[in-house]
Amino acid sequence: MTRRDILEDEIGKKLPAIRVFSLAIDFLRKDVLDTLSRHVDTKNFESDIQWVLTVPAIWNDAAKQFMREAAQQAGIPGKNLRLCLEPEAASIYCRHLPVLKCTEQEVASFSQFSPGTKYLVLDAGGGTVDITVHEVTDNGNLKELVKASGGQMGGTKVDEAFEKFISSIVGLDVISKFKSLHMEDYIDICREFESKKRKPIHSTSSVTIRLPSSLSELCEEFRETGLRELLLQSRFENKVQVVRDRLKIDNDVFNEFFEPTVCKIISHVKNLLTTPSVDGCAAILMVGGFSESSVLQENVKSTFKDIKIIVPDEAGLAVLKGAVIFGHKPTTITERVCKFTYGEEVVHEYSESCKHPKEGHSVQVNEEQTERIATPISNDQTTINTIVYSSSSRNPQLTTEDRCKLIGKLTVPISDTSSGINHKFGTSFSFGGTKIVVKVVDKESGEMMLKSVDVLG
Ligand SMILES: Nc1ncnc2c1ncn2[C@@H]1O[C@H](COP(=O)(O)OP(=O)(O)OP(=O)(O)O)[C@@H](O)[C@H]1O
Ligand SMILES: [Mg+2]
Repeated sequence: MTRRDILEDEIGKKLPAIRVFSLAIDFLRKDVLDTLSRHVDTKNFESDIQWVLTVPAIWNDAAKQFMREAAQQAGIPGKNLRLCLEPEAASIYCRHLPVLKCTEQEVASFSQFSPGTKYLVLDAGGGTVDITVHEVTDNGNLKELVKASGGQMGGTKVDEAFEKFISSIVGLDVISKFKSLHMEDYIDICREFESKKRKPIHSTSSVTIRLPSSLSELCEEFRETGLRELLLQSRFENKVQVVRDRLKIDNDVFNEFFEPTVCKIISHVKNLLTTPSVDGCAAILMVGGFSESSVLQENVKSTFKDIKIIVPDEAGLAVLKGAVIFGHKPTTITERVCKFTYGEEVVHEYSESCKHPKEGHSVQVNEEQTERIATPISNDQTTINTIVYSSSSRNPQLTTEDRCKLIGKLTVPISDTSSGINHKFGTSFSFGGTKIVVKVVDKESGEMMLKSVDVLG
């Protein structure tokens, strides 16, 4: 992710990604203000609003900074903005409103989860599935037990499988022509699929989807035969039929759209549950829109029979609502597990005492790492620039190692250069928050500043 990344729309028009994101955020910001202004005069208190922007926990530091800057460009001042990790928001929500909003009996006891209880939060959205494991701490807050994991295995993978299915019958050329000529019809099919995807399985033996005539016409034009004949030639011969303007799809075939994605999620969770620190995990909390899917729910329940599966009512809104609670009480999350090992580029002679904090370590939110002293290398230097690296290996030593990646830069300004190369600055990094913060202490004046590492190229 960089500030210069470009996005292309459906017909190839380009815009800087940061502009697209900031316009989307700006739309939401204005919508909130519009709604509020119907009840109160927002002009006088707009600057009092604390905005919380949620992001997947598995995002890297650059993607998080990108969102922060997009929000600032959308008119949300940095001091009024807080980033919140989505599974954490979901977890907080479910611990706050269990009795009101939960469907299952056991959930009533969820808020009383005693200290030491471990549970897994599965946030299955459209694009990403984001998984964290939390433990209730002695004072009732939450700490993260393993680094957040997951990937691109959300609900839209099911939509993609459906589109692949249609393409496999009519041909890729027909689909791409169909999209370029009849976008509204294409969107109609997607909408219809979306509503069928949300219906519980097994309620009928097949699923019907209306197909627009424009698609059949393109089939005739490109394939010189109708959809019905194309289906007879495909592997779906007996399982999918054309009935008037509808496609009647057997449940077996419809389930195949979900299968690879659901399998991936299940195997990821299975794998995670074998991690020693997660041992004794008492429950799986399913949130996010895709968690409302009965296919996903049934598979999770039948795979993890010994674990309590909790799906709050309105699972798709758990993140949103939790983020509001988090905005009021951001200290709820006290400890997170680092996804990377972080370090600075320095040159020094080899010494046994050279120790680096390791990846996968737990750090307290706002916990400062050991202070390091930096000095300028020439007398007239007005800034000290430090290059910051991350690595996915546990204990890297050199920045030239394979898995070591340059992630950003820390700039410390030197306002008074009179002490030249003897001017010492202490830097202490904190990694537990949603950005990397560095406390810089000017050892001469005693002045302290908080800097964040610029990780967005
Ligand atoms: N009842 C349902 N059954 C099946 N799928 C559903 C249901 N409700 C919503 N979805 C799917 O959930 C997805 C959207 O989930 P959600 O709103 O949590 O995503 P998001 O938070 O916007 O995405 P991401 O977390 O990837 O950024 C869509 O793919 C949608 O089809
Ligand atoms: Mg989401």
